[in-house]
Amino acid sequence: MEILHVSAECYPVAKVGGLGDVVGALPKYQQELGHIAKVVLPAYRNKFFDTHEFDVVHQSGMWLGHQWYHFNVLKERHNSLEFDLYLVDIPGLLDTPGVYGYPNDTERFLAFQIAILDWINEWHHQPAVMHCHDHHTALIPFLLSYSYKYNRLSQIPSVLTIHNAQYQGQFGWDKLYLLPGFDLWKAGLLDWGGCINPLAAGIKCAWRVTTVSPGYMEELYQNANGLESLISSERAKTSGIINGIDTIVWDPATDPRISNNYTPELIPEGKEVNKQDLCERFGLDSSLPLISFIGRLVGDKGADLLPEIIGRSLHELPGEVNFLVLGSGDPHIEWMLQETRNYASYGFNLHIGYDEALSHLIYAGSDFLLMPSRVEPCGLNQLYALRYGTIPVVRSTGGLKDTVTDFGDAGGVGIRFIQPSVWDACSSVKRAIELYKDKRRLRDVQLSGMHLDHSWNASAQQYIDLYQSMRI
Ligand code: ADP
Ligand code: GLC
Repeated sequence: MEILHVSAECYPVAKVGGLGDVVGALPKYQQELGHIAKVVLPAYRNKFFDTHEFDVVHQSGMWLGHQWYHFNVLKERHNSLEFDLYLVDIPGLLDTPGVYGYPNDTERFLAFQIAILDWINEWHHQPAVMHCHDHHTALIPFLLSYSYKYNRLSQIPSVLTIHNAQYQGQFGWDKLYLLPGFDLWKAGLLDWGGCINPLAAGIKCAWRVTTVSPGYMEELYQNANGLESLISSERAKTSGIINGIDTIVWDPATDPRISNNYTPELIPEGKEVNKQDLCERFGLDSSLPLISFIGRLVGDKGADLLPEIIGRSLHELPGEVNFLVLGSGDPHIEWMLQETRNYASYGFNLHIGYDEALSHLIYAGSDFLLMPSRVEPCGLNQLYALRYGTIPVVRSTGGLKDTVTDFGDAGGVGIRFIQPSVWDACSSVKRAIELYKDKRRLRDVQLSGMHLDHSWNASAQQYIDLYQSMRI
């Protein structure tokens, strides 16, 4: 079966968060299952673009409203990703260094979707399924079904995966003219709350809608940032499929980005060298338990709680614990964290920014990974932590609830707390410190986590089963 994944991110081509990890890994595993998985994303002007070679496989142009754009579809020449990678190059729109956050994001991603459909319209064959990821690509199911231009494609089954329903890509009806001509009787399918809402349109029009954990799917029926009634009414075509991880990229036994490679047999010594290097780099005491946070510094991740969690823990338990934060995002949270570091002066350090290599060393060198998320559709950090023998300390929500069991229960691999509050998180920090002192139990919990199989094997097959259920 030929699957075309359409996404704004794909590791290592372009990654902002977990979406990139998923789209960089799932197609590999689908290929291993004997299918043809292709990925198409924008041709951003980034390091990957500058350091790889491409062939032009399609040249064309399109109207976006009143504006004409030339575009090319490029194919990576040497198949370095183990699947076919296509980049849509639209000078003036998609040739940006970054992925998101431009004032014309609506136009950029609309043009991206139109270019892809124009291109596929020229194919002699059709993909067996189009798998769209998040709101940037969620108008495709609508356009496939109702745009006059793509009549030929209307029978291609589409899957929309919601990686995070907080982001829906809404824009005003004044931009309707940017869409290619379609049956105006169907305009209501674009609407949600008086706006054109791509995520809502995708939920209405995709043949199947998935999200990245069963737990988050259940939550969405109750709370989906305004889409709960829509998701509930479309319930029959929804399902949750848990994300996996790329066990080649994320393997402490071979990871070239960490100081010392290790397998479960080498726990705890194997991690120790990594911890010492990390602590030396950040001026922390490696004899104390190290609790880290990696991620976007936004309210959904509970990052606004970090300054108080860290400040209070260091105050109440001086000399008993160290904290390290890697992330960037909300400037106010960044500032509060910097202030906390200045104030605490010991026991806490941070790196504001995005650093892929450092993230690997933190997964390897930390004892615990804190995730006080308010919303977590799946979360990959806890899965990487588990594989690196780092115990996740998580707020029990969405995918975190599905993947992290509490060490208080038999076979538990992490520490869970209920409320996204400073109080609950601090109690869990205390539990982590107590666990750290009980070296034998600590090792048992670490090993239980390391032995879990969170590879994509099972979930890649679940997606294939889903595609097959749509065959017409
Ligand atoms: P989300 O996609 O919501 O940000 P996930 O847990 O699914 O959260 O995935 C986050 C991914 O981004 C992980 O691979 C994590 O290691 C990575 N990441 C997040 N912030 C940073 C950062 N500042 N530096 C390096 N990697 C980061
Ligand atoms: C989103 C979610 C995150 C999930 C990732 C990959 O960014 O916030 O929880 O792991 O997508 O699906």
